[in-house]
Amino acid sequence: MYLTREEEKMYSGEYGPAVEKSMEILVALGDIYGADGMVEIVSAQISGVSYKTIGDAGLEYLEDLAGEGAQVVVPSTLNPAGVDLDQWKELGFPAEFTKKQLLIVEAYRKMGISTTCTCTPYLVGNVPPLGSHIAWSESSAVCYGNSVLGARTNREGGPGALSAAICGRTPNYGYHLDEGRVPHLLVEVETSLNGADYGALGYLVGKAVGNGIPYFKLVDEQQKKPQVNQLKALGAALASSGAVALFHMENTTPESPEAMPHTKNLEKLTVTREDVDDTRGKLSTSQKPDLVCLGCPHASLEEIKEVALKLDGKKLANQLWVCTSISVKAASDRMSYTRIIEEAGGHVVCDTCMVVAPIEDMGFKVIGVDSAKAANYVPSMCGLDVVFDEWENLIAIKK
Ligand code: F3S
Repeated sequence: MYLTREEEKMYSGEYGPAVEKSMEILVALGDIYGADGMVEIVSAQISGVSYKTIGDAGLEYLEDLAGEGAQVVVPSTLNPAGVDLDQWKELGFPAEFTKKQLLIVEAYRKMGISTTCTCTPYLVGNVPPLGSHIAWSESSAVCYGNSVLGARTNREGGPGALSAAICGRTPNYGYHLDEGRVPHLLVEVETSLNGADYGALGYLVGKAVGNGIPYFKLVDEQQKKPQVNQLKALGAALASSGAVALFHMENTTPESPEAMPHTKNLEKLTVTREDVDDTRGKLSTSQKPDLVCLGCPHASLEEIKEVALKLDGKKLANQLWVCTSISVKAASDRMSYTRIIEEAGGHVVCDTCMVVAPIEDMGFKVIGVDSAKAANYVPSMCGLDVVFDEWENLIAIKK
């Protein structure tokens, strides 16, 4: 694979061991995937943050890299961690786990990475422009970045995204290329979609398309154009039941006009109301949640507002976490949404989520979610039961 003179210098250790190690990882990835060279990136989003997922080996790797003076050269944010970094004690996160978690975040901080730990970097200022090359690793963010923003990223692993952030480059293959962004399946959605339907649709289409690229047509004329919150739920589910990194949606996503001519001879999947309802039913393994966890992907201010309006002056009968980033929580605090939710007995939880937090060690048994991605992962990653429904049906209000 071709390297520029600057990249050769990185590879041969002229910029120190951290850059050398990172460039070696990028070249190895490029060789595996047949990249012709590197592309410069403008943004990184790095997974491999929760102590639950990377353990002691990951912590050691990061501390070594930080100790060698590694520094990122593009705006970079972190994926969710395993705890709320500020409120961990009040929320009952285990102290030993938290100790390790704080060391992981500190290693990333030393490398110059923003410790805004979130899977929705695009809601907190990490918003690359259309056509730009990026290295993102959280699968739902990858799907949103490629599809809704029209930026270009592969589904990076944590080390790949971190290496790209340190070198400012990533191997040029897959979704960075025009030919890697062509649709493989035409999906005609015949029913209107509301609330958790978007996640259910993503879950069923992700299963059908695997790691391909779906092109959505919403054929119901009453269908309202999906907005940020619906598109993030759809992309997260597509990326979890399949390995979808990019979808196009007619009249909605920026590359759909160029993608449309490629749909002519494609296989077609028609999705009916029955298909969506059937998928919704299959995503639950139990009925009554003891903890309701919203914000997968991390909640926007608008989503927190809706919950606050519903809970104003009421008391919750079950526990509630609304997961989000520290930046969105700051806005929620200022708008009094956090206070309203807390007065009702719930919490606005930062930096973490129901999947990467050690909730299985915190006494919870059944988790209520309105996200198909969370419904897919809570049983497998936490070993707990899950109820998938609209959030309004999941929360119980005291009479
Ligand atoms: Fe984000 Fe956790 Fe869901 S990382 S997409 S809230 S599983």
